[in-house]
Amino acid sequence: MTISLARGIPAPECLPVEELADCAREAIRRDGHTILSYGSTLGYEPLREWIAERHGVEPGRVLVTNGSLQAFHFVLALIGEGRVIVERPTYDRPRAIMHAEGREFSAVGIDAEGLDLDELEQVCSDGSPPALLYTIPTFQNPSGVTLSEERRRRLASLAQERSLPVLEDDPYGLVRFEGDPLPSLFELEGGNVVMYGSSFSKTVAPGLRVGYAIVSPELASELVPLAASTYITPALAAQATLYEFLRRGLFEANVERVCGLLRERRDAMLETLETELGGRATWSHPEGGYFLWLELREDVDAAELLERSSEAGVTFVPGADFGGAANTARLAFSYVSPDEIVEGMRRLGQLVAATPAAVELG
Ligand SMILES: Cc1ncc(COP(=O)(O)O)c(C=O)c1O
Repeated sequence: MTISLARGIPAPECLPVEELADCAREAIRRDGHTILSYGSTLGYEPLREWIAERHGVEPGRVLVTNGSLQAFHFVLALIGEGRVIVERPTYDRPRAIMHAEGREFSAVGIDAEGLDLDELEQVCSDGSPPALLYTIPTFQNPSGVTLSEERRRRLASLAQERSLPVLEDDPYGLVRFEGDPLPSLFELEGGNVVMYGSSFSKTVAPGLRVGYAIVSPELASELVPLAASTYITPALAAQATLYEFLRRGLFEANVERVCGLLRERRDAMLETLETELGGRATWSHPEGGYFLWLELREDVDAAELLERSSEAGVTFVPGADFGGAANTARLAFSYVSPDEIVEGMRRLGQLVAATPAAVELG
């Protein structure tokens, strides 16, 4: 059976199926006449209020969407035609969306502490003024890297000084296995030029399709006709089911449970990387999230390695799909079991060791 280190989705046991079944029933019983009809374009009101309170903003600034990727689409539509700056590497879907619409975008490198801010300043000054910075500061997809606190502070001031609109995409922030949480860019900047996006896909269930964005009140009102012409009303029954889950106080305990399940998987991957690929590659050491980033010897082509590894029953995503170098790869530890991770890494390790002209990195 193929072991997927490619799929960035939760392991089945992360999903709180029974609890959500009860919540769905109760939500429809209690509020069926509202949530089974057309309703608020910006999302289920009680959920908007819950999100607003959590982030210390007015509910009028909260837009609840069908997954957070949709918020990215809306933000792109609102900023018009300008250039977007992204990280290199970055989440492949926004890249694909921008490619498809023929939008100009520039990529700025990241290192172990996240976005390279000197390079960002350079890229902002070269060429047309950027209309948006799209960034994933915490447990980034695909690299697992987190922007350091110092850089968060500097980026927040930089965005303010330049009036650079930023979309902080933060679906993994609560999926932290260890270490202290860092302040979001949104908090640090005060939510003037920084917009914040997140979702309940990693903390509860992606199939609910409940994501959200916090924007300025002006942008929120511009979003109403855009959201209405996209779906009239978002999926209120799913939003109300989630709200019932939150109302029952199940959220924090679920996040802790999910973090425990994912921590075991991350640990299994890190330990096996050491034994199977030590000296032949380097990798990131994420304190949370779904992914880590593998950097192979410079002459190894991850796409070619994937062809061989697929035959050997293990898959991953080549880094080039995220705008990364040819010798890099994204390994997801979120989906398969710890035992499968160990076996998958063993298969991968053997293939890397058998790659012609292998020179130990030392
Ligand atoms: C960085 C990032 N943003 C957004 C999403 C989309 O999540 P959602 O399910 O909320 O649309 C993902 C999903 O993998 C992601 O990794």
